[in-house]
Formats: sequence, C-alpha cells, structure tokens
Amino acid sequence: MNTIAIANQKGGCGKTTTAINLAAELGRRNKQVLLIDMDPQGHASLGLGIGDRDLPGLYEVFSDELSFYDVVLSDVIPGVDLLPANIALAAVEPLLTGQPGRERQLLEQLEKSGELYDHVLIDCPPSLGLLSINALRAAGQVLAPVEASLFALDGIQQLHEITTMLCEKYHYDLPIRVLPVMFDSHTRFAQTILKQIREQLPVGLSGVQIRHTVRAREAAWFGKPLIDYAPHSTAALDFQRLADEILAANGQAVAIPLTEDHEENDMDPISKKPQRQMVVMNFDEIDCKRLQLAGDFNNWIPDHDIETRNINGHWQKVFTAAPGVYEYRIVVDGKWQQDPTNSSEIPNELGGINSLLQIPVHH
Ligand SMILES: Nc1ncnc2c1ncn2[C@@H]1O[C@H](COP(=O)(O)OP(=O)(O)O)[C@@H](O)[C@H]1O
Ligand SMILES: [Mg+2]
Repeated sequence: MNTIAIANQKGGCGKTTTAINLAAELGRRNKQVLLIDMDPQGHASLGLGIGDRDLPGLYEVFSDELSFYDVVLSDVIPGVDLLPANIALAAVEPLLTGQPGRERQLLEQLEKSGELYDHVLIDCPPSLGLLSINALRAAGQVLAPVEASLFALDGIQQLHEITTMLCEKYHYDLPIRVLPVMFDSHTRFAQTILKQIREQLPVGLSGVQIRHTVRAREAAWFGKPLIDYAPHSTAALDFQRLADEILAANGQAVAIPLTEDHEENDMDPISKKPQRQMVVMNFDEIDCKRLQLAGDFNNWIPDHDIETRNINGHWQKVFTAAPGVYEYRIVVDGKWQQDPTNSSEIPNELGGINSLLQIPVHH
C-alpha cells in the first residue's frame, strides 16, 4: 500500500485540490484508492460532492463506536473510496491527547484494514497537531504542495523538522517531496523559489508543477475533480503527470500516455490570454457614502481596476475579468461585509462569508 500524506501546515496552498485530483486520476487508471479527509473543515469531502454534516468519520473510529469500514464511503468517484470528515473531526485531538499510542491511531487502523488499497491519500489539515502527526506516522511519503512564496519555504522547513523527529522516534523513513502549485513557471520569482527549494531545503522536489487555472476553484465549487469538470485544463494535465510520477516512483509502469498539452479552454486562441469580459455589478439597495469592491478579480485591493458609478444614489461597479467563479466582498463606508444583494456565498478562511460571482463563458 502506497500511503501519501498531502501536508503543509499553511492553509490555502493546494493540499485538498491535490488530494482530490490525484485520487481521481489514480482511480481513473483502475487503481484502488482511499482518500482520507483529515481536515475538520471537510473540504476534500465537499470537493467530491459529499457535504453531509452528520456522516460519521474518524472520531467514531478512534472512540471505538464504529469500525474503519463502517465510515468509508465506497466509490464516491470511479475507483476512489472516501473517509469523510466534518467538524466533528476536531474532537479527535482532545480525544487522543494523553492516550498512549496517540500518534499511531491511523496507522493501526490502516494496518488492520489489510492491503485493500493500492494508494491511500491523506488530505491533512492546516496545522501540525495530532491529526497531521497521525497522517505522517501512517504515511510512506509526504507530498507538500507549495505556492511560490517565501513564507511557503518556512513551512516546509517546519514540516521537515517534524518528520525528522517522527522518523527518529519510530525508526522509519518518510521522504518529503515538494509539489509547486498554482504556478506560473514563466516568472523569474517562481524560478527563484524552485532554485531555493532545490538548493537550500533537505527535501525532494517533484518534476511536475501544477499550473494555475480558474477551473480548479470552479471544479471544487461544483464538487467534481478537474478530470471530470475540465479535462483539458492545464492543471488537469499536470495532475496526470503527477500520477505518472507517483506510479513511476512506485515502480509501476505508466498506464496512460501523456495527453498532448492543451491550452486553457477559456484562453483567446490568438493572444493566449484569458478572454476578459465586461462585468457590471449593481448594488441598488445599499445606502452609504462610499462603496468599494474587492475580490479574486482585483487581488482583494478595494476598487483596484474598478470603475465606480453612482447613478441617483444607485451604486454600480464596472470592471473586466475572465470567465470563472470569483469570491468577493464589499466595503461599505470602510467596513468589509458580504454582499447582501447576493445569496450565493461561501465561508472564508477567516470565519466570515464571501460572496460568489460567476462570469460565464461568452460564446
Ligand atoms: N492549480 C490551481 N489553480 C488555481 N487555483 C487553485 C489551484 N489549486 C488550488 N486552487 C485554489 O486555491 C484555494 C486553496 O486550495 P486548497 O486545495 O483548498 O488548499 P488547502 O487544502 O491547502 O487549504 C482553493 O480555492 C482552490 O480552488
Ligand atoms: Mg484543505
């Protein structure tokens, strides 16, 4: 069994996206895959369309109420079983604290479960607490998605320290492989970061880089892996390469030849840039002195690249953006809030709510 912990204590660096898409790609190649959602936020479960908040999970297993197989959902997508998570998973850390063998609970469960799976992928939470430690102890290798930023390198150093400690304590080997994600390899900055990882960190570096695509977020929103939602998107192809790399490292032949590289399907065929469209947003009901707009489309800088109109007290914002799903908030007289005129929303990492704007592809 090839058990991979997908870990990095930094949030929002692509762990869940990697877990879902790698699982989907391995499943598509007729491998038996178990995806363990180890994050109380349950994003891997949500990203596969499993949003039921009452499903039992590892808490029930670790407290001996249910067996491992009672909580595994079979074939949520072809070839992939899911051990789901929801906020109840947060109760696992206090449950295990103080217990002998608290770091080995997941490993023991996997060992008991026999060698049913070819690959077990563990989507870790954004912390290095007991949940992540259980994942690292159960794993044979770590895949650490990293966005091109200097802070990201800090995180890898810490992850390396903790795996070294575990390996010394339990006498096993746990190589870390960094996976660059949301990557724009053309920038000099991205190349600098790659060089630093290669030369300064005592970890491996994947030969694959997952490119940035607006499709990743959309796919998660629709509860689908990229190979279903946007099979020709850049990142879907990158995840195929990652699956190749992982199978090759496992001594297995690559089952599927590399598909020819496609450009994003929302790219202009001539300029190769995303086709931006004019977007007009109306905020009729909002009565204030100043209304600003910030979101994924303008790097969250209020009113950056946005034209504001006020017609008889009705606010209007005009800007251009490529097709996709964008999160945004408005700033009403200096106060950040969700858009009360839009019921389409998503929780953000700070415990608040962002509004969602969908810009469809224009034919
Ligand atoms: N290759 C990519 N291109 C564009 N956006 C991405 C890509 N990978 C992930 N994202 C987006 O980045 C955000 C964080 O990714 P996620 O996988 O949830 O990270 P983590 O699990 O580390 O918190 C999500 O909104 C996700 O859709
Ligand atoms: Mg996640």
